[in-house]
Amino acid sequence: MALLEVHDLHKAFAGRKVLDGVSFAAEAGEVLAIMGPSGTGKSTLLKIVLGALKPDQGRVVLDGDEITALSERELDQVRVKFGVLFQNVALLHSLTVGENVALPLIEHSPLDPSVIEIMVRMKLSQVGLTDFENFYPNQLSGGMQKRAGLARAIARDPKVVFFDEPTAGLDPVVGQAMVKLIRDFSRALKITAVVISHRVDLMLPVADRVVMLYNGKVVFSGLPADMAASEDPLVRQFVRGEIEGPIPVIPAPEQLKKALLGE
Ligand SMILES: Nc1ncnc2c1ncn2[C@@H]1O[C@H](COP(=O)(O)OP(=O)(O)O)[C@@H](O)[C@H]1O
Ligand SMILES: [Mg+2]
Repeated sequence: MALLEVHDLHKAFAGRKVLDGVSFAAEAGEVLAIMGPSGTGKSTLLKIVLGALKPDQGRVVLDGDEITALSERELDQVRVKFGVLFQNVALLHSLTVGENVALPLIEHSPLDPSVIEIMVRMKLSQVGLTDFENFYPNQLSGGMQKRAGLARAIARDPKVVFFDEPTAGLDPVVGQAMVKLIRDFSRALKITAVVISHRVDLMLPVADRVVMLYNGKVVFSGLPADMAASEDPLVRQFVRGEIEGPIPVIPAPEQLKKALLGE
């Protein structure tokens, strides 16, 4: 059985279909990239998988727990199995990096402060931030803040970590380092990484498998090499970043508004 199973998800907003029968699975320990152009429902999919949004139809099963059937209270217990790194990272700026990573440990487990301190140091070293525990988030670069966010996401040793656009706002070199870090920590700690991204250039080299969404449907599912070699016009255009093809270059007005205003 796969660690994460997504079965036939449907979701519409105000009568407009955003997810139209999405199914895929993530195996334990793999790096799975969920790719596709902006506005194709990737973040909506993530919210449903995390239990933050209910689908109109379909099921999500994570490590045997049916996320889509759980109450808020039951979800709280299951949430220990996954970590999340959102696009904006959302570190608390009034706390140090170490305190940020300690938060999920303090909130959920009755541990001795000295034990928590050791665990925080361990997590920070796993993401390459040894000796940064007393820094404040705004003293770190964007890439280092994402690393700190990752340390917090893995604080409770989750089975799977979800990333929403982990390279957004990073320069090419730091973006490259970030995806390598995701692959390396996944391999080293045997944690499944589900990475939502539209950056084909960065994700294909590190992903074990890729699922591509377009207009709320899965249009490709398979190995990165097969995606790169695909003759499907949609996949081809997306992989090569071509202007000509079935994917329109001028976004719908609501997507443009979202992109400009960050809504
Ligand atoms: N809460 C919401 N209410 C109405 N429309 C939404 C909501 N969330 C997302 N959408 C719409 O759903 C579509 C897909 O959005 P999203 O899942 O954020 O795409 P992606 O992450 O692939 O860019 C967009 O057109 C967006 O405007
Ligand atoms: Mg998104």
